Amino acid sequence: MSSIFTRFLCHPGRVGAFCASSRALAVEMTRSIGMGSARTVVELGPGTGAITREIIPRLNKGSDFIAVELDPELAESLHGRFPRARICCGCASHLPRILEQENKEAADVILSGLPWAIFPEKLQDEILEGVLAGLAPGGRFATFAYIQGVMLPAGIRFRRRLENLFSEVETSRIVWRNLPPAFVYRCKK
Ligand SMILES: C[S@@+](CC[C@H](N)C(=O)[O-])C[C@H]1O[C@@H](n2cnc3c(N)ncnc32)[C@H](O)[C@@H]1O
Repeated sequence: MSSIFTRFLCHPGRVGAFCASSRALAVEMTRSIGMGSARTVVELGPGTGAITREIIPRLNKGSDFIAVELDPELAESLHGRFPRARICCGCASHLPRILEQENKEAADVILSGLPWAIFPEKLQDEILEGVLAGLAPGGRFATFAYIQGVMLPAGIRFRRRLENLFSEVETSRIVWRNLPPAFVYRCKK
């Protein structure tokens, strides 16, 4: 199985982190976003499955779970390890098309492990527009950010983008048990 570190060495501009999220951050990602009642849950950028493995036990029995990963090698490895997830290999910006292909109107919950800080603004916008279009009214979106970037201009711009797109944006406590420490943005459509 590939690690985030080896995929980072191959594609630093796509992976954006040299180690996977900690269990503490993955659990924080799944909190207070209505996982238990969601009928369709989507994860963007699952990587090696650090957050995926915390999503699965929290899913409603009858729900559908779709994970969208750009890296074909990681997507292939997730296939075997998480049979509960429908793994789609592709870009998160194509989410509305992916949902259509999966015969889903919209997702109730979308969780993202995407490396926003290394994305050009155009790609950030395309993905966030796809998230908004793919979320059901009142749906929830969770994504994390590392604390060292939050006061930088790019971090401030990213938060403004979220606030412009969603009706509510909350931040979680800081998860110190992650490398680097991080927090979660919880947004409501
Ligand atoms: C920082 S890793 C995070 C992996 C995992 N979610 C975690 O938190 O440990 C980012 C992941 O996003 C994937 N990725 C990057 N750009 C993407 C895109 N446009 N669409 C879907 N996945 C993407 C990368 O291949 C990588 O697996």
